[in-house]
Parts: sequence; C-alpha cells; structure tokens
Amino acid sequence: MTDVATDATKILMCPPHHYDVDYVINPWMEGNIHRSSQDLAQEQWGKLHSVLKDYAVVELVTPQKGWPDMVFTANAGLLLADQVVLSRFFHPERQGEEPFFQKWFEDNGYTVHTLPESLPFEGAGDALFDRAGGWLWAGYGFRSELDSHPYLSKWLDVEVISLRLVDSRFYHLDTCFCPLTDGYLLYYPGAFDDYSNRLIEMRVPEDKRIAIDEVDAIVFACNTVNIGRTVVMNKASETLQKKLTEKGFEVVETPLTEFLKAGGAAKCLTLKMTEPRAASPQTSTIQSRVVHLEGHLLDSGLVNQTLDTIVSGGGSFQVIKFELGKQRNDKSVADVKVSAPDVTVMDDIMGQLIDLGAVSIPRESTSTTLEPVVQAGVAPDDFYVTTIYPTEVLIGDHWFRVQGQRMDGAIAVTRDNGNITARCKLLRDLEVGEEVVVGSQGIHTIRKATSLKKKSSEEFSFMGAGVSSERRVELVVEQIAWDLRQIRDRGGKVVVTAGPVVIHTGGSEHLRKLIQGGYVHALLGGNAIAVHDIEQSMMGTSLGMDMKRGVSVHGGHRHHLKAINTVRRYGSIAKTVEAGELTSGVMYECVKNNVPFSLAGSIRDDGPLPDTKMDLIAAQADYARLIEGADMILMLSTMLHSIGVGNMTPAGVKMVCVDINPAVVTKLSDRGSVESTGVVTDVGLFLSLLVQQLGKLTGQYTKVESIR
Ligand SMILES: NC(=O)c1ccc[n+]([C@@H]2O[C@H](COP(=O)([O-])OP(=O)(O)OC[C@H]3O[C@@H](n4cnc5c(N)ncnc54)[C@H](O)[C@@H]3O)[C@@H](O)[C@H]2O)c1
Repeated sequence: MTDVATDATKILMCPPHHYDVDYVINPWMEGNIHRSSQDLAQEQWGKLHSVLKDYAVVELVTPQKGWPDMVFTANAGLLLADQVVLSRFFHPERQGEEPFFQKWFEDNGYTVHTLPESLPFEGAGDALFDRAGGWLWAGYGFRSELDSHPYLSKWLDVEVISLRLVDSRFYHLDTCFCPLTDGYLLYYPGAFDDYSNRLIEMRVPEDKRIAIDEVDAIVFACNTVNIGRTVVMNKASETLQKKLTEKGFEVVETPLTEFLKAGGAAKCLTLKMTEPRAASPQTSTIQSRVVHLEGHLLDSGLVNQTLDTIVSGGGSFQVIKFELGKQRNDKSVADVKVSAPDVTVMDDIMGQLIDLGAVSIPRESTSTTLEPVVQAGVAPDDFYVTTIYPTEVLIGDHWFRVQGQRMDGAIAVTRDNGNITARCKLLRDLEVGEEVVVGSQGIHTIRKATSLKKKSSEEFSFMGAGVSSERRVELVVEQIAWDLRQIRDRGGKVVVTAGPVVIHTGGSEHLRKLIQGGYVHALLGGNAIAVHDIEQSMMGTSLGMDMKRGVSVHGGHRHHLKAINTVRRYGSIAKTVEAGELTSGVMYECVKNNVPFSLAGSIRDDGPLPDTKMDLIAAQADYARLIEGADMILMLSTMLHSIGVGNMTPAGVKMVCVDINPAVVTKLSDRGSVESTGVVTDVGLFLSLLVQQLGKLTGQYTKVESIR
C-alpha cells in the first residue's frame, strides 16, 4: 500500500538486538528494569518495521551492545534536508550513543552540527516540524535545554517555537505532540504549561487541533508515525480513532508494549530523514540574560528560590558560576544564565528575580528603560511594579536609590537641572512630563539575607490550645516591649493601627497607657475605634455593653450614635476635648498628648465623626504621611486598616500584627520579610500583657501607671 508521500519518505530505525530496560531515566522505566521480554520486543519491533515498509523506505543503523536505548532512533538527532543537529543526551546513560549516530550521519553524507558540550538536546524526540506552517516545534523542560533552540534556528534556518513540558511522564515532545499532514496536530494539552498551550492555540486553528485525553496519552497515542494520511501508533481509544477518521486519517495500530516499559513507542523508534526544507524563515524569540546573586545564598534559600522562580515562570537556567563563602559570615556569589522562550516570559521572570534581589549583569551597562507619562494618572504599559524592598535604578552610569519606597507603585523619574530623582508613586499621582521605569533592566532590590528566610508556620500560632502557647505569647510580648522601649528611648517612631475590637475587649485602658507613656507616635484607624472609644468614655458602654459589668444596657445600642452626635456638635474630637465633653479614653489621650491620628472612612461607618476622612485618596495620603519614618507598626485587630497600612510600608519597618484569626495574621505578616511578627491572640489580653511587661522593664512589676 502506498500513497503520494510514500516514495519520498525515508525512515531510520535500529533493530532491538540489545534493547532492555537497564536503568531508570524516566517514570516509565521505574519498576521495569529487566522486565521487558527480548522476544516480544523483537516481534513488536519487527511488526512496526514491516508496517512502515509499506509506506516508506526504512534504513537501519547497527545496534551497539551496552547502549540499549539506541533502538529509539528519534533521539539520534534532528534532520532537515542534508543537515543534522546531533543529539547531546542529558543522561550519561545515553551519551555513548552519540558517536555511533554521528558516524552513521557522516557516512550517509549529512552535514553534522554539534552543540556545545553542556547543552542537552535530544533530537527529533524534542523537535518536530509543523506539517503546514514549516516552523519547528521544540520542547524543553526535561531533556533538552531551551538554549539549544537558537542553534536549531540558526543551523537549520527555521523558525522555532519553544514549548515547555511540565509532566515528567511526557519528558520528550514526541511523547505528547505530533504534527500531522495538512497542519493537523495530535497532542495532549496536559503535558504543557499554560503559556505553551496558548502558543499552540495561536498557531493551530481549532478545527485542526486534535487534543487527546490522558487515557490515550498514557498509551503513547501521540507517539505516532505520520506518513501522508496514515498514522501508525501503539494504540488509540475508539473516541480517538473516530476523531482521526473524521479528519481523514487512517489509523494503523501496532502493539509496542515492550517499548512502553522504557517510555517510547512508534515515533521514538523511528527517525524521519526526509523532512522537506521549511519555508518559514530563521527566527528565534528566545531571550537570555545573566543574573548575579550575592549574600548568604544557601542559608537564605535564595539559590533555590531563584531557580524555582525561573522554572515555574516558564524559563530555564544554567548556573555558570557559584562561589561558596568559606566562613559562616562570608558571602557566596552566583551567576545564573536565565533563558525564556520570549521577551514577555523573560520580563515576567526577571521582575520576580529582581524582587529576590538578583541583579542583571553586566550591572554597569544595562541602563533602565524609561517611558514618558502621556496621560496624568496612567503609567506606560509594562511599567515596573514596586515592592516593599529598597530599590535602585540604573540611569546613565549611576544607580539611584528610589525614594518613598512602597509596594504596588511605579518608579517616576524626574530631572531638574540635571538632578535626577527616582521616586515611588501611586499610578494616580503620575504626572505628564515624568518618566516611568518600564521592563526589568537596570533595577536592583536590596534584600537582607535574613529577610529571605521562610517563616515557620508555628510562628503564627502562638495561641494554639494549652498553657505553653500562652507562655509563647508572653515571650513574644517581652520582645515587643523591649523593642518599644528601645524605640521610645532613642526618639524613634511607633505607629498604631487599631480597630474597635480594642475597645470591646477592654484594651482601651492599656492603649491609653501606652499613649501616656510616650510609646505611640501616631494612631491610625477607622471611624469605629474612635466612635466606640468615645462612647465608652462618655457612657461607659461599648456597642451598648456596660464595660465594667459586662451586661447590655437598656437603649445602649444607640449610645454610639449619641457619641457621634456630640462630637458632630463640637465639630471635631479635639474641640470636644477642649469643651470638656470628652475627658478620657484613647482619643482623649491622643489629643492631650499631641499624638496625631488619622481616621479613614468606610462604607460601614455611622455618622461619620467629623474627623473621619470619607475621601479615601486623602485618607491614604494622610496615612502615608503619618507612617513615614516609622520604626515599628503595631497592628491591632483591624484587618481593613492594617492591610491598607501594610501596603504602604517599606521593608525594614518592624510590623507586629495582633489578631484572633490566624489567617489574618498570616496575611498581614506574610510579606516575605522577617521584620514582621504575628501574634494570634485576643487583643485585649495582648495589650494588658504588653503594658505589664513595660512596667517590669521600668522596675515596676504591677503598677502600670509608672511606665513612662
Ligand atoms: N459604627 C461604625 O461606624 C463602624 C462599626 C464597625 C466598623 N466600622 C468600620 O468598618 C471598617 C472595618 O472594621 P474593622 O477594622 O473593625 O473590621 P475588620 O474586619 O477589618 O477587622 C477586625 C479584625 O478583628 C479581629 N478580631 C475580632 N475579635 C478579636 C479579638 N478579640 N482579638 C483580636 N482580634 C480580634 C478579626 O479577626 C478581624 O481581623 C473600619 O473602617 C471601621 O471603622 C464602622
């Protein structure tokens, strides 16, 4: 039986005389060492050989003893016309096949291209020509290195589309992907990352894509030899057979179970030698950059994080230098080459690496890219999104420290008489005429080694059941009290963010004492903390509950509205204090001790109090003003305001988050920075312990009044 393609098609195979599963280099081999039957393998290979002879001219390469996988000739190299790119096997177990295949190619008149020694590429197992577009689909992720793809493009003068394999069962592209005649594509989408699936969908129209299910994928239905309209494979389900028949293909099944034990089937056992020269021009979108890492790379886990970030972002890496510090305090340095299939993926990966503190090298020559703001309040596309970490940008020959560091901003650059300033700005504050840093070149974040250490989840669960956890709260409170005292005594700044729960849990008297004691330098919160504090001061209730007796008071649910009304009458909290109407409580102490406060509005607010800023942009600006220069932020039981504050705070500021809900504490503390401490406990209890501890530090064990 022949068709038009038959006469022109030539295939290389290798008889399985020395075939066996001798080692494990893929998941299929596990448990199958020496479990394949030599007789059955011979029989199955023979059958495939005779089937293919009906459609193509089959040539043979001599099998070599000790190289059992030579039978899988697809991995000999990648052929196009009279050119071949010889494979560089990833595993030493197969590297010995290379010279035998090289000799065969040379003896048969091919021009052989050899890749650099450290660059794995496994031939037509990982590179398949599209049958309509003329481009080359090339896989990476397990056996072939992404950096080999530009060589394929150059040597074979072809456009290469790189696809990332993510399922180790489908370690070669030809185990899960098979371009068919007329631009059809048989493939298993689950073997690829999302980005690669999108690339496939962009290149191959929907009616040409034949996506298979796992049930067919695991019997290697994609590992198919396609000649004309015939597809030769190990096995196909009825559904798949139907799909293929509908598209005009004839399915020929030939069992290859013995070869499946080594992770291969029909396509792996063949190398097509008559690929037509591709029409598509030489292009490769692959990007490479080298990044430099410095610090306590192993202790901090930075190397692992960097490599994981590259791979999970869709790139690949080569560590080109690693110098380990010899003493405990010595720094280690590493240079890592990062490759990505295109510029978008590269920018995404680089953005994340910069956040880890990696610097693109050569550091001196990759000036940052700036684009002008053309519409006020709108950044150019692809602007660099800032983090909480101190950042430098390279403009011309100089690195400039970015001012006003905060997360989720853009870096705006202004030039005033030659003086360059780089500043973090919120999008809405960007002005026409400013330039904004885009992309990821020439940006460096400064990370302390310790700030990279992962926190143990235990750190957040001080209040698990049992006596010991209470003791742990005490321990952490001791540390916080010590820090508070140090900060106060050296004239530093502590900002408190507090929610109304502080008042309901009886924490008011303790917070009051902290203010009196000079431990609080700004108070941030919403309408509620002030309303309930003032209600308690004026009427002795909080949310209508008598705070001394713990019972609700008749008509008490309206008390907070009466408190609001009183303050509204006087025009502000300060004026209410001045008028002698408000004589105690947290807000009173703020006014009396000149502690600035800012109340940010929300949709929940009753009233609101005249002091509450319902213009949220103004409120955010006011918060930012009060946070500036803070050494510590105490976040007391308000998720809303604490998250708002966390987003504006640069790294280096100690944050203590107290909340009864572990999830909230984790969210607030998990900024990848060890400067934050999470305390899962009742906020009233926390404040009482804190004040007690501060009393101890001044020699007064119980008289908390003496903490000043
Ligand atoms: N009457 C009013 O005007 C009024 C009333 C309530 C809230 N609000 C406003 O609504 C917004 C959100 O309020 P919020 O900040 O209270 O709510 P939130 O949900 O943001 O935060 C409350 C936090 O307190 C924690 N919590 C509860 N009990 C605790 C305890 N015993 N100890 C420690 N933590 C405890 C919760 O887990 C939660 O994370 C604010 O702007 C607030 O001013 C207004």
